[in-house]
Amino acid sequence: MDRPTNRAGDGRRARPAAHELARYEALFAARTRGMKSSAMREMMALTERPEVISLAGGLPDTTTFPPELYAKLMSQVAADSTARALQYGPTEGMAVTVQCIVEVMEEEGTVVDPAEVIVTTGGQQVIDLVCKALIDPGDVIVAEAPTYPGAIPTFGAYQADVVQIEVDGDGMPIDELESTLDRLAAEGRRPKFIYTIPNFQNPGGVTMSLARRHRLVEVARERELLVLEDNPYGLLRYEGEPLPTLYSLDAAAVGRGGASDLVIYLGTFSKILSPGLRLGWAVAPRPVLEKLNLGKQGADLCSSPVTQLFVAAYFKEGGWREYIERLRALYSRRRDVMLEALEQHFGGKAAWTKPHGGLFIWATLDGGVDTTDLLAHSEGVAFVPGRAAYMDGRSGASSMRLNFAGVPDDDIREGVRRIGRAMGGQAGLFGVLTGSSPGAAAGERGGDAGAGAAGSGESPSELADVVELPRRGKQGSADRRSAGKRRDR
Ligand SMILES: Cc1ncc(COP(=O)(O)O)c(C=O)c1O
Repeated sequence: MDRPTNRAGDGRRARPAAHELARYEALFAARTRGMKSSAMREMMALTERPEVISLAGGLPDTTTFPPELYAKLMSQVAADSTARALQYGPTEGMAVTVQCIVEVMEEEGTVVDPAEVIVTTGGQQVIDLVCKALIDPGDVIVAEAPTYPGAIPTFGAYQADVVQIEVDGDGMPIDELESTLDRLAAEGRRPKFIYTIPNFQNPGGVTMSLARRHRLVEVARERELLVLEDNPYGLLRYEGEPLPTLYSLDAAAVGRGGASDLVIYLGTFSKILSPGLRLGWAVAPRPVLEKLNLGKQGADLCSSPVTQLFVAAYFKEGGWREYIERLRALYSRRRDVMLEALEQHFGGKAAWTKPHGGLFIWATLDGGVDTTDLLAHSEGVAFVPGRAAYMDGRSGASSMRLNFAGVPDDDIREGVRRIGRAMGGQAGLFGVLTGSSPGAAAGERGGDAGAGAAGSGESPSELADVVELPRRGKQGSADRRSAGKRRDR
């Protein structure tokens, strides 16, 4: 008989009650206190509901992949290599898959030695393995603010002390990085690595300028610091000239055709092919690579040979560049649709980024609107509240991440329209409750973006889980149903 499912009324898996947890409390390792639910996980559960318009996920549009090609490649893998596909593979990855990675890196203008690549179970595993190899509790990671929401639970699980540096339109300001490093050095602290997403940042949508890339590599070399360059979106550029990877700039600084010795590069097939394959990779200096390999052995022995062979067959077919070209055309149009909808429904009430690529727009609302609260009122439209991108779980309260890439045009327009309408109501309520004008509150917003946990009176670990999504009452469910109906029409 099936075990009974433990589901909440809204379809989400019910969380254990406090008394259930108490029974196991003494058994849990200290690190589990830093393991907070990712807002993304909550969001994925929410967006499974058919009536929800989701601008929340980090989803590419997998409906663009031709089903007949998928069937053909899978049959090919079965016909040519059943036994290999169903067997364990080497921890570092299959040579045929590494060769595809070398090709993708070349497309990014980056030459890598196949011996310095490790195939991983998604790019997410690279973040985990890098932390596993480098982070002891209390160690410092310097990251951007906002940063990739999916990295936050990983950093938390390894009990890292994450120092975030607010990005501007050109990515992480390197002078601020330097003053932060000076301050940390004065405290006797040296970061274990600097974490950056230089291209079309998730969630900010901003790209690090060429000058800052050069300077970041110089700073890393001057101070002997490792950089984790997280680059899932580099090939999804819709305008402007491609910029060199930090990896390639550092390799050039090493000279004599050498490899980078300070940059750990994270790549993934998730956004240029499919996240369902769960395949990513790291390129790293050999001593670091060795530790990543050991960490991976302990985690999953190897990434799936089935999907590695699928990737190899797909690259052999030869159309992977054309597929990315199609994705670029589609996503760039959807980005424009979203920018237009934002102009129409957020105009005068918010500021937002205009990304040159990637999947996301980051919007920051005026009027003291808290986007975590707004989710409960946004009429069946999901987005990622800004707090999810800050380690303290508190900053970024007025911001939201919006995905345009995985959503049809009409849903983008309707989703933005509904959020815009809900925003109006929230800002009005804020004004009534506080007696303040939206303009005054907008000033507060600017301040809050850079605020850390310091002075909040609450510990970062307590705050990190506050991105708990509001659950709707009965009224909310009724709204959702009618919202769903409206969408069906
Ligand atoms: C910046 C960034 N890094 C890493 C990942 C992890 O991707 P995956 O594990 O699917 O390769 C994502 C996914 O959205 C991302 O946006």
